Amino acid sequence: MSIKLGINIDHAATLRNARAENDPSIVEFALAVQKGGADSITMHLREDRRHIRDNDIFLVREHCKIPVNFEMAATVEMLDIALKLNPMSACIVPEKRDEVTTEGGLDIKNKLAEIKPLILKLLEYKIDVFIFVEPDIETIKYAMESGATGVEVHTGAYAHSFGNTTARKKQLEKIFSAAQFCVENNFEFHAGHGLNYHNIYELLKISNLVEVNIGHSILSRALFSGIHRAVHDMKQILSGHDQ
Ligand code: PXP
Repeated sequence: MSIKLGINIDHAATLRNARAENDPSIVEFALAVQKGGADSITMHLREDRRHIRDNDIFLVREHCKIPVNFEMAATVEMLDIALKLNPMSACIVPEKRDEVTTEGGLDIKNKLAEIKPLILKLLEYKIDVFIFVEPDIETIKYAMESGATGVEVHTGAYAHSFGNTTARKKQLEKIFSAAQFCVENNFEFHAGHGLNYHNIYELLKISNLVEVNIGHSILSRALFSGIHRAVHDMKQILSGHDQ
């Protein structure tokens, strides 16, 4: 079975925001992503609204048939928006104002008491909840305790280590162990961050990998090939048709 592909479209909004125009239109872009074969659209509404804006998430939710995965910090403001948006799923991420992108997994261990009520609220509204965590079994245990549907493991360290065989092997082992732990505990396993057309192949070996969320590499390829083709090519890999 094919691994589901969620496309993070935040970078399209970064480009749009470079000028005070609606170019590219985020809705049109999301529709093209959908046409390319994506399984869902991921958007991260940041506290500072540096890329995706409130209007974007509601318009994409309204116009796209494929589900929305709402990436959000664990704040009351984002919870209120998530409940209004009613996406298929929410991915809880840590958020620092000065970071360029999400730099690490959520410290769910130390934030469990604070975050659990928010997770339960989302679940009550039938929104699946995934916690963005490092591929670390102890951390995943806390994510399970939170009541979440599953985890999205942060694959950034793996992606960065890709050119170094020893480091790559070490990072892959962490991801494989995390996946194994999730399958044993019936906890849904997703992955994301830094994945591209080269480093994705190793992850195809994970039998319980349900979904990957990818933004940067696919939107970068789209500059050359168009977004339809860029999504299609990744979808082919994830379906095992390009090995
Ligand atoms: N998953 C999460 C939780 C993220 O924060 C991001 C980056 O915004 C991604 C996936 C996509 O990462 P990339 O743009 O490196 O593919």
